[in-house]
Amino acid sequence: ALISLRQMLDHAAEYGYGVPAFNVNNLEQMRAIMEAADKMDAPVIVQASAGARKYAGAPFLRHLILAAIEEFPHIPVCMHQDHGTSPAVCQRSIQLGFSSVMMDGSLREDGKTPADWDYNVAVTQRTVDMAHACGVSVEGELGCLGSLETGTAGEEDGIGAEGVLDHSQLLTDPEEAAQFVTLTQVDALAIAIGTSHGAYKFSRPPSGDILAIERIKEIHRRIPNTHLVMHGSSSVPQEWLKVINEFGGDIPETYGVPVEEIVEGIKHGVRKVNIDTDLRLASTGAMRRAMAQNPREFDPRKFLKVSTDAMRDICIARYEAFGSAGQA
Ligand code: G3H
Ligand code: 13P
Ligand code: NA
Ligand code: ZN
Repeated sequence: ALISLRQMLDHAAEYGYGVPAFNVNNLEQMRAIMEAADKMDAPVIVQASAGARKYAGAPFLRHLILAAIEEFPHIPVCMHQDHGTSPAVCQRSIQLGFSSVMMDGSLREDGKTPADWDYNVAVTQRTVDMAHACGVSVEGELGCLGSLETGTAGEEDGIGAEGVLDHSQLLTDPEEAAQFVTLTQVDALAIAIGTSHGAYKFSRPPSGDILAIERIKEIHRRIPNTHLVMHGSSSVPQEWLKVINEFGGDIPETYGVPVEEIVEGIKHGVRKVNIDTDLRLASTGAMRRAMAQNPREFDPRKFLKVSTDAMRDICIARYEAFGSAGQA
């Protein structure tokens, strides 16, 4: 059944678990997520970015998610729009039947220029007015995602601030978060706590304190009724990097957010954990290997099947680690 983000995360908060929010662009990702959720009896958040809409087309994406709900009627599904760049974009998603939207007013409409406070509050307020009137939840964002190691957003294309950010932009301020939530009434808030989008988060193996856990605790203490969201939460599995590079890929050394650190965040109010890159890496690795090992094969379904299975296994591991398994 389709449910709102608020409904899903209120339950997660009550029972102390986190829900991975996987990005979806195509049938194989959708199947991987739903097969994993079905196996683990976990609630599902599927999110579509502007890039996903460009790739699949809005009607195909919408029907892909509706098909998932039809095939797995016993699994609660939240259909979320990732990184909306304006109230108009959010309005279109509401019209399409999404049960949750993100208004990312931390950046201007170009998705690159850091926005000021007044702009963020104004566009988020407008979105909440519209969405709540339709029973749709809203996620806002305060602070700019970026690595504390490099001060940059990390992504070459897609959503992310351009240039080098200063330390205060990279960590969401708890007092500002409280004020922002009071003014906008968002259901969930994405916070900057040291993560960044994409595969290139950290250049050295993480040694414990990658996330600003103290900051998460402070924010959660100030706004205990607002569900915290962690973007850029891929763990960048080293075993998949190895497979990719062993079978013709060329990905430089890089590290993501350790699952144990995400689990620590979940203990302190993080309820939605955004993951895209990990499924991309698993899919690419599985396909590269299958193609290299089966040079005579030309039925794409064979390659897409191993890709789906690899993505499904990542989803299963995250449902288990975040405590969402058994909560559907
Ligand atoms: O926020 C970034 C997500 O990983 C979506 O990426 O814009 O390439 O679809 P995308
Ligand atoms: P990753 O690139 O770490 O998977 O983050 C995805 C994300 O935050 C989507 O909004
Ligand atoms: Na989002
Ligand atoms: Zn994001």
